[in-house]
Amino acid sequence: MSETATITIDGNSYEYPVISGTEGEKAIDVRKLRADSGYITYDDGYGNTGSCLSDITFINGEVGILRHRGIPIEELAGQASFLGTAFLVIYGHLPSQEEYVHFSQQVAGNAAMPDDFRHHFNGFPSDAHPMAVLSAMLNAAGCCHSEMTSNDREQDMEHFDQAAALLISKVRTIAAMSYRMSQGLPFVAPRLDAPYVDDFLHMMFSTEEKDYEPTPEIAKAMDLFFLLHADHEQNCSTSTVRMVASGGANLFASVSAGVSALWGPLHGGANTAVVKMLQSIHDSGDDGSQFIEDAKTGKARLMGFGHRVYKNYDPRAKILGGAAEEILNSLGHDDPLLDIARHLEKAALEDEYFVKRKLYPNVDFYSGLILKAVGIPVEMFTVMFAIGRMPGWIANWREIATGSSRIHRPRQVYTGKVDQHFVPVEER
Ligand code: SDX
Repeated sequence: MSETATITIDGNSYEYPVISGTEGEKAIDVRKLRADSGYITYDDGYGNTGSCLSDITFINGEVGILRHRGIPIEELAGQASFLGTAFLVIYGHLPSQEEYVHFSQQVAGNAAMPDDFRHHFNGFPSDAHPMAVLSAMLNAAGCCHSEMTSNDREQDMEHFDQAAALLISKVRTIAAMSYRMSQGLPFVAPRLDAPYVDDFLHMMFSTEEKDYEPTPEIAKAMDLFFLLHADHEQNCSTSTVRMVASGGANLFASVSAGVSALWGPLHGGANTAVVKMLQSIHDSGDDGSQFIEDAKTGKARLMGFGHRVYKNYDPRAKILGGAAEEILNSLGHDDPLLDIARHLEKAALEDEYFVKRKLYPNVDFYSGLILKAVGIPVEMFTVMFAIGRMPGWIANWREIATGSSRIHRPRQVYTGKVDQHFVPVEER
């Protein structure tokens, strides 16, 4: 007999089915609640609300588990590449050798931007934020591919594979172009023969005199960074992608909206905020102890700490903490910000304020130190997050496009004025 939940309202009892996920998660299916009782649920920030059924990623925040299509992030981080993980997240299985070669070729072959695309960048002030540029340019890129942006679901799905490879590829190119524009540097054409990360860093840092070739340690660190950001259930930006997709909008429009949602300092903007926080602690001569006290009194926020779902260590933070040490050692950099980060982490993990609230380092706590070591400018950090998250956004768009989901349209509880009437301006 299937499990049910009973809700009693105004003396009436209503029974609703309980949905069980494959990892044992339970949900009460309240889709008929309003029709039955006239009541809706209220859940500010959706902390207790499942917006969808999804096969892509599973997180157990209590014990710090993250799996993509059932595979633990630790195994992917140790053995897969970013593109292999992107394929897994999007298509639901690890690619065969043949699938991997084809997918990599599709990505490599789609890196260049149409020549007339360069003129779009002239429309931005040189100090335009790269997230604003990225969001705008992803939609602009869709204008060059009307066959993929018809908003006719069947037609858009016919071109899905090409659109997915194109976006995973071009998100790097647009990012690099926005950086070159901000520096007043000429754009660098992609190379067809370079691996994903190498080609990106080439487009970012090559000069007319010399092509940029990353060290193996830098290439590995950036590939790991992108891999660890590939997908993360229904976070703020991924939910935004699904919201936009649910209205029938095409993939380019949906990921463009995802970029805007990711930009905020509480979400993808946190990696930038963490490095700025560490730098200001360092510049103030504090070793982090005073900052911890300020965070406890609400005078400051310990960026890179805390998470809506993880009430244990974010497994990505653990991996990135090790990778930060590794790349700094390999480059012979002795970054004082890493020492401060380690001090903050140790102090917070022992302090009652953080322990009671189950606040642990999240993916953003160490990621900025890796980007800083690679030479990525701090204002580009959130763009790096967007490059990594592109496969997850694409996979979630595909789930909406191929599923039976309805348009996302939450209800509300109205708390405004009632029984008002229009007053002519001369009487106001
Ligand atoms: C990402 O959702 C995802 O999956 C996101 C992400 C992904 O991969 O997509 O994992 C990526 O966005 C990671 C999160 C990056 N953001 C930050 O590091 C910003 C700092 N963190 C916080 O702002 C906060 O922890 C959030 C936004 C991450 C979570 O916010 P919640 O779940 O709404 O928690 P809350 O604000 O209700 O906090 C609960 C309590 C409060 O104290 P009390 O009111 O109980 O006294 O914890 C405190 C908060 O003041 N608190 C913090 C804190 N985070 C929460 N206090 C100090 N420093 C912090 N960082």
